[in-house]
Amino acid sequence: METKTENQLPTPAMLIDLKIVERNLAKLADYCRTHNLKLRPHTKTHKSIAMAKRQLAHGATGLTVAKIGEAEVMREASSDLLLAYPALDAFRSNRVAELARECTIRVAIDSPLAADVLQDAAKRAGSKIGILVDLDMGFHRTGLQDTASAIALAQDVSKKPNLRFDGLFFYPGHLKAKPDPDAHKIAMTEMGAKLSETIDALAKACLQTSIVSGGSTPAGYQSHFTPELTEIRPGTYIYNDWNCAAPGLVPIEDCAAHLICTVISDAVPNKVVIDAGSKTLTSDRLGMDPEHGGFGHLPDYPEAKIVRLSEEHGEVDISQCARRPKLGERVRVIPNHICPCINLQDQVWVKTEEGAIEPLRVDARGKLN
Ligand SMILES: Cc1ncc(COP(=O)(O)O)c(C=O)c1O
Repeated sequence: METKTENQLPTPAMLIDLKIVERNLAKLADYCRTHNLKLRPHTKTHKSIAMAKRQLAHGATGLTVAKIGEAEVMREASSDLLLAYPALDAFRSNRVAELARECTIRVAIDSPLAADVLQDAAKRAGSKIGILVDLDMGFHRTGLQDTASAIALAQDVSKKPNLRFDGLFFYPGHLKAKPDPDAHKIAMTEMGAKLSETIDALAKACLQTSIVSGGSTPAGYQSHFTPELTEIRPGTYIYNDWNCAAPGLVPIEDCAAHLICTVISDAVPNKVVIDAGSKTLTSDRLGMDPEHGGFGHLPDYPEAKIVRLSEEHGEVDISQCARRPKLGERVRVIPNHICPCINLQDQVWVKTEEGAIEPLRVDARGKLN
């Protein structure tokens, strides 16, 4: 195994601190155990079989993926997968149905078309696919809008011989990392009331809701305010990012992934340029302040601001810095949104608990279908 010291890493290099990873994993696993919740981490954040295995070692019940290509990779880590994405075209549904021959696979859907396509594919493959009916709880991205349509879809699914109605699904993406946890608590309680109404209506239609799958990193630790939940699917919590730390959802010390960059120019007054642009940091702005938030945070130079990105250049305004980064210096950046940044790397680096630095393949990198 190739090991390096931090100063030998070719930059920009994504360096992940395993001590912090383990702390983040243990903390949420403990919370889930305390509240009798299953944990099905979303692997889109790390896209790594080794990281998925760490989550399973902490007691995760299975894994979540967005794409069938990710599911095919994560199959090596778990035989219990949830595709949190409507797989309603032939190239997706056929692969889902094939995978369902050898492991438990569920898909979250919000249309009769998806149910038809998955039924046809599963029939051809001779497999059975579990279905979660996706409800819109306020994020307004996917999900059925009312109880009646959820019941109708669940009934439709339950009549199809190669599908199995397993329960309900939602993504609370509208609950962002706010410093006021009371707002989350109220929203989570309201969601519980809506879920409860749907579960009761399903029971009256003789349909049993075995799974209620929700959760995200910002809403993770408020999940017990929605007692109807049986499992949560946080992804970002393994590494955290500046979108988590800036609004105070987590302390900065819980950010496990830092991008190590080199200062490659200081020719323009009040500015330095780092060797990470939009092809490394992405163009994602800071969720809590998209206009002024910059493109990532330099923890060692907190007054510095990454103000503009070209593909390979990150322009950092250092006019407010008491101490300024020097030409050739290595600086650390906490990305605004870690998930797409990981997907831009073939390989990241991990710092082990013993302090060694080792490469880690991003196994599901680029699995976009
Ligand atoms: C359907 C679904 N579930 C779970 C998650 C995980 O959310 P987070 O990254 O905030 O933990 C996401 C994130 O995009 C998602 O789209």
